[in-house]
Amino acid sequence: MINIVLAESALETVPREIADHPSVKRLAERRGKDPTSTLLDISYHYAAMKDLEDWDRRGRPDITYVTLLTLLESPLNREGRLSIYVHTVRDFIISVDPKVKLPRNYTRFEGLMEQLFEVFKVPPKGKPLMTLKRGTLKDLIRVVAPSRTFFLTEEGKRTKVEAFANKAVKEDRPLVVIGGFQRGEFSDENLRLADERVSVYKEPLDAWVVAGIIAHELERALGIL
Ligand SMILES: C[S@@+](CC[C@H](N)C(=O)[O-])C[C@H]1O[C@@H](n2cnc3c(N)ncnc32)[C@H](O)[C@@H]1O
Repeated sequence: MINIVLAESALETVPREIADHPSVKRLAERRGKDPTSTLLDISYHYAAMKDLEDWDRRGRPDITYVTLLTLLESPLNREGRLSIYVHTVRDFIISVDPKVKLPRNYTRFEGLMEQLFEVFKVPPKGKPLMTLKRGTLKDLIRVVAPSRTFFLTEEGKRTKVEAFANKAVKEDRPLVVIGGFQRGEFSDENLRLADERVSVYKEPLDAWVVAGIIAHELERALGIL
């Protein structure tokens, strides 16, 4: 089983500090919701977000959406070889049932995430397909108990992705960590959790591109493709 975490993901609800900002209130009212029950999104909340700490690494729920779609629909996951988690920038952990079918419509995904932050599981009744609880990346790694933790970062050691995948599949319980944010590096605290830091390309790539490359190479290494 390969464990993948999308870490420090720019997925959260509107923080209380900016809930009264006119642009935030107006948007939430239009959707008939309390501002703090809506997702923070830099494309709508830019003006209000500029005073938030780390504002340029927050409010990108689309990164989680596209990366999850890429991973969940990969042959690697279809073959039952993946465990997928999302760790968020405000330290929540989302466990994702590998069988979940995410909505193909982004607005519906937003609604699903808003429900998840409100009631901590979706669907609210019956067997949950996603659950949310408080927790740091360190907490998550303690639970997953990986045999080796690989952080994917353009600042890491340049490695042929094929060599990386061949090494990862030889591990008992490998954990691959990909950043779910738009800018910058993992926090120093989280980077210290890495056994290895791996770069697969000379420039920064989008998280979903890295997820696609990694899933594909793991599929080859496991003989799925
Ligand atoms: C959009 S990048 C994060 C922001 C990026 N560091 C920047 O400043 O533009 C999202 C994530 O994809 C992974 N990633 C991006 N480029 C990579 C590369 N060249 N090698 C390995 N991982 C990479 C890392 O996990 C990174 O945190």
